[in-house]
Amino acid sequence: MNIANWLEKAKTKVPSIDAELILLNILREKDRTYLISHDTRDLTEVEEEKANYYLNERAKNKPLAYIINSKEFYGREFYVDENVLIPRPETEDIIDIVKKIAENIDYPIIYDVGTGSGCIATTLKLEIPKAKVVAIDNSDKALEVAKKNSTELHSDIILQKSNLLNDALDRNIDIVAANLPYVDKSWDWLDFDSLEYEPLTALYASNDGLALIYELINQVSARPDIKHLILESDPSQHQKIIEYCNKKGLELVETRNFILYFVS
Ligand SMILES: C[S@@+](CC[C@H](N)C(=O)[O-])C[C@H]1O[C@@H](n2cnc3c(N)ncnc32)[C@H](O)[C@@H]1O
Repeated sequence: MNIANWLEKAKTKVPSIDAELILLNILREKDRTYLISHDTRDLTEVEEEKANYYLNERAKNKPLAYIINSKEFYGREFYVDENVLIPRPETEDIIDIVKKIAENIDYPIIYDVGTGSGCIATTLKLEIPKAKVVAIDNSDKALEVAKKNSTELHSDIILQKSNLLNDALDRNIDIVAANLPYVDKSWDWLDFDSLEYEPLTALYASNDGLALIYELINQVSARPDIKHLILESDPSQHQKIIEYCNKKGLELVETRNFILYFVS
């Protein structure tokens, strides 16, 4: 079967963009125009078999990122599997905010709490080479993925298993960034089907999704060294988080889509 015929068949089962991305991944090509300029190229038996397998997985609603074990974040490809959350584009705002803060600190010490795939920590170290970046997670399996990504992308970060900042070693942390679980299982407006393959421990938190965020705010507000706190959460939670931070002596500097930036 050639590329054009396979795509035609695949598009009856999944969105055409997914069909194209499956084939590009298998053919190790990046540019979608390749599929047009080579539409009469025959797929080998191995390529076709693999493409059909990926197609059937996608048709079962498995996210493409888990099928091809890859997701782009801030312009770089990260390995992902079902032990980590798939990096989301809204999280990229954290990188821009931290980069701006770090401009005014000589050798910033930055903690990424709940690192998952390591996308935030790995990117921050590559974007801010002068920084010391520590990536924390309480999941061994997530830390393995973060290690793989930081190694493959040559990002020299420190990985640490810890419950939030409980075991943080540095006593002079400048910036804490966190995309912690913030979904509550009771939210009836959320499309839970789209989350069914992602790790429960990366998604859900109690107390309307705010339990872990509040716990981290408590830790940060008790530490005079930590001046900057950047949190991701659903915009519907922002008002409650801002009020909680204010009570703890943290002031809002900026809201950017899903991201809140506070200073102490
Ligand atoms: C929403 S995912 C975010 C992953 C990644 N930072 C990203 O933005 O794609 C949350 C991560 O926090 C971790 N986590 C959950 N509870 C934690 C805790 N108490 N302490 C440290 N990490 C935690 C989960 O294992 C998961 O990897």
